[in-house]
Amino acid sequence: MKLKIATLFLIYIFSISYVNCQAKIIKTQTPPRPAGQKDVLQLRCEPIPTVRIAFIGLGMRGPGAVERMTHIPGVEIVALCDVLQKNTISANKILAKRGFPAAQEFYGDTTVWRKVTALPNVDLIYVATDWKHHAQIGVQAMKDGKHVAIEVPAAMNLKEIWDLINTSEKTRKHCMQLENCVYDFFELTTLNMVQQGLLGEIIHGEGAYIHGLQPYWDAYWNNWRMDYNRTHRGDVYPTHGLGPVCQAMNIHRGDRLQYLVAVDTKAIGNPEFIKKKTGKEVTGFRNGDHTMTMIATEKQKSILIEHNVTSPRPYSRMYQLTGTKGFANKYPVEGYALEQEMVGNDIAPNHENLTAHKFVPDSIRTRLMKKYRHPIAKDIEDLAKQVGGHGGMDFIMDYRLIYCLQKGLPLDMDVYDLAEWCCIIPLSEISLDNNSSPVQIPDFTRGLWNKLPKLEFAK
Ligand SMILES: NC(=O)c1ccc[n+]([C@@H]2O[C@H](COP(=O)([O-])OP(=O)(O)OC[C@H]3O[C@@H](n4cnc5c(N)ncnc54)[C@H](O)[C@@H]3O)[C@@H](O)[C@H]2O)c1
Repeated sequence: MKLKIATLFLIYIFSISYVNCQAKIIKTQTPPRPAGQKDVLQLRCEPIPTVRIAFIGLGMRGPGAVERMTHIPGVEIVALCDVLQKNTISANKILAKRGFPAAQEFYGDTTVWRKVTALPNVDLIYVATDWKHHAQIGVQAMKDGKHVAIEVPAAMNLKEIWDLINTSEKTRKHCMQLENCVYDFFELTTLNMVQQGLLGEIIHGEGAYIHGLQPYWDAYWNNWRMDYNRTHRGDVYPTHGLGPVCQAMNIHRGDRLQYLVAVDTKAIGNPEFIKKKTGKEVTGFRNGDHTMTMIATEKQKSILIEHNVTSPRPYSRMYQLTGTKGFANKYPVEGYALEQEMVGNDIAPNHENLTAHKFVPDSIRTRLMKKYRHPIAKDIEDLAKQVGGHGGMDFIMDYRLIYCLQKGLPLDMDVYDLAEWCCIIPLSEISLDNNSSPVQIPDFTRGLWNKLPKLEFAK
């Protein structure tokens, strides 16, 4: 009898703690899809043979995009906008150098962009301002009948994310985040390997933004980036690390991000940087030197994303994929490890004694990378390397954006990708402010994450 009572008591305790564990997941609101509004998965719009572009934000990043676009056939650059006139003038100089007609200039303050989104002769608004202006410009651009491409991160909080989704769904306009790192050559080639099954099923992925920004802090307009880090805890720049991993895992195309847990360190590097510059003690700096976010997916896969913009470390986006048959790693050395059975005879004809315990030799890696070069990079790889932009990936991104708009095809990245990759910013902050509690990741497709079978780039 005593034993029975003890057993019942244990079951009771277990069930209470189980219920409590479940209750600890923090949930955020998912606004219902307004009546009559449809999703924008695989959104196709009218083809635009000549894409007329207006650029908003011409600081360190924007002018490179202006230059790259001049190398793509079927593009007109009609407007250039920045708070500062010197930036619109120098962007027009880029156009002159490339033999393009001068674009109309808009400058003067942080609201002048409203005239630009309202222009009647523009198809695409290309946004490279500071983070705080991204989403509001994006929403207004779509309301004004334009497609919009927004630098990373395109949205900083859940309200901005849902506003972009709802506006894209309502207006039927494309809203793409300019996540260039998914187009780097190693990532694209690896994605092709994954899609052809070379690594088996991908069960774990890692990505990061590890980049000491000390040489740049003073160059940002109005100190916007340091100010954001000062006032926000969490991974404020997750998309470079997360984007390529989500693509390899077919997120919202058969799987979805389910919840996250974040852990960070105290803040030392950035407060010290500010103190050295201003002589003033800094208190309450929110962003830790190192932030780690772990994500679980619906299909029980795991992702680790890291952020560190202050420690003395070599640049790294990490980019690792662990599959059931192989492994890919980009930083600090690019390499693949594969089960022997996955290495075809055309790659290792002499049946070299390969083992997945170490990377395949350089000669085999080179052959693999040639064989699995991604079809979207094949024809433009040389031009991309010549035009440049982080070694060519920026050009492939712009080229694909224009190619799909010209042909009326779905874009490579949709507004739900934007949402999933950006939501780590507010959700990691919520987790950290609640002792690393798990935070549920909304299904931004509102029930349609399983509608598409896999990621496919339109041809
Ligand atoms: N994808 C990448 O690899 C990559 C690399 C660098 C920067 N970025 C992103 O590009 C964006 C810009 O970064 P940056 O380094 O050029 O910063 P920056 O401070 O050098 O430039 C921002 C520019 O936007 C302008 N601006 C700000 N608010 C504006 C407004 N309301 N209207 C018009 N212009 C406005 C500023 O005058 C400034 O010239 C950021 O979102 C950043 O995260 C992406």
